Amino acid sequence: MNKTFFLETFGCQMNVVDSERICHLLAEIGYYRTEHVDNANLILLNTCSVRDKAERKVYGHLGSFKPLKSANPELIIGVGGCVAQQEGEQLLTNIPFLDLVFGTHNIHKLPAMVTAVEQDRVRCHETDFLDRETRLQLWPNRADISGGVTRFVTIMQGCDNFCSFCIVPHVRGREISRPSTEIIREIEGLAAQGVKEVTLIGQNVNSYGGKDETEISFAELLRKVALVEGIERLRFTTSHPKDLSDDLIATFSEIDTLCNHLHLPVQCGSSPILKRMNRGYTREDYLKKVAKLRQARPDIRLTSDIIVGFPGETKEDAAATLSLIEQVRYADLYLFQYSPRPGTAAAALVDDISKAVKQERFDRMLAMQRTISQEVWNADVGTTLPVLVEGHGRQKSGQLFGRTTWNRIVNFTGDDPLIGSVQPVRIIKSLKNSQLGELL
Ligand code: SAH
Ligand code: SF4
Ligand code: F3S
Repeated sequence: MNKTFFLETFGCQMNVVDSERICHLLAEIGYYRTEHVDNANLILLNTCSVRDKAERKVYGHLGSFKPLKSANPELIIGVGGCVAQQEGEQLLTNIPFLDLVFGTHNIHKLPAMVTAVEQDRVRCHETDFLDRETRLQLWPNRADISGGVTRFVTIMQGCDNFCSFCIVPHVRGREISRPSTEIIREIEGLAAQGVKEVTLIGQNVNSYGGKDETEISFAELLRKVALVEGIERLRFTTSHPKDLSDDLIATFSEIDTLCNHLHLPVQCGSSPILKRMNRGYTREDYLKKVAKLRQARPDIRLTSDIIVGFPGETKEDAAATLSLIEQVRYADLYLFQYSPRPGTAAAALVDDISKAVKQERFDRMLAMQRTISQEVWNADVGTTLPVLVEGHGRQKSGQLFGRTTWNRIVNFTGDDPLIGSVQPVRIIKSLKNSQLGELL
């Protein structure tokens, strides 16, 4: 009988891609994925520790598996990802029913770890960081995983920016860029399988190639990817504003297949706070880059991340963020209340903004953004937009979904053969996170 595993993924696109890899590796040792946690032989959580809330979610989920383990001592439970990297062996100590812990550089060891637990019921952990050469050697070419119209392609791992609030450099390690020749090879493979859209991903794709003098820049990489036949749409995330060069901005006027959306996290609208966040740009620098982007691509829509209540944030700082939101008019905004993360520079500062004040500032920013978002997305109603059809909608049979170049999900009625093609869809209604349309 086949063995099954249940896998839940938290956090960012890096973890989504890592989870795909985990599925692939487990299939090689005879484990198949199930959506039913109750009957699984193996339960894995691929975790995120970027905020206190994200980390607590992981502990909550783990707790809910305890009765399953009591009922079935053969059950194997494991934790991977950024909480695993952060906590390491301590997780095994804290959670007595946990069998294995694997860090962000050790996914390749998972099959051997699972086999060891099966055979000897050992409890194991692997959380060492690997050197650059080993990481590059272990980088999988994911063109062998089939399926889908849109795909993520990892072009870099880790981060060297050390924004003072951020745990990512501590749990993902130093930044490395993947050779551009391999990236292109993977994308050609994906195109041959019928993939139509790729999103190049990394913690800061803008600094791609930066450490390696023989490697091309990110803007040059985009130009090369744009030449791959069959790829009709191109996206990338995440962009650090300090590394958004004029050359990269120019690609928005040069490359037609580059989508009309950019996620450009600002974090805060006040320069003194940005300095303490170690972000490497001022409010004015950021606004200048936004203006240049809009010059290069007038109908570009921007989204962003903002941290509310960083240590020492004054009323004036919060007002500056609010005015930046008003000025930039983001299409969407992800707002987070600051939480100190272990090992980061900001963790040494007093988390002096009370929960109530964070909440109040958060609510005001959210209210302003809701109004702006509504205005931005309602402007699409009545217009006909090219939608790349990705698959079946979840709600009703006969429903398809796809995305506009602005990265908005559109649901509409249509037939299966349309999946994988770009279709003209008239937008009928804008909802909170998606739009309803009709096929022309
Ligand atoms: N690499 C990406 C962001 C990764 S983390 C970038 O550079 O933009 C995703 C978002 O989580 C960040 O943009 C930030 O807004 C938020 N975040 C990170 N650390 C946080 C903390 N300690 N408290 C609250 N929000 C945080
Ligand atoms: Fe974190 Fe800053 Fe790196 Fe983004 S760029 S992952 S916010 S340290
Ligand atoms: Fe979370 Fe790790 Fe991504 S901390 S945001 S899953 S890199």
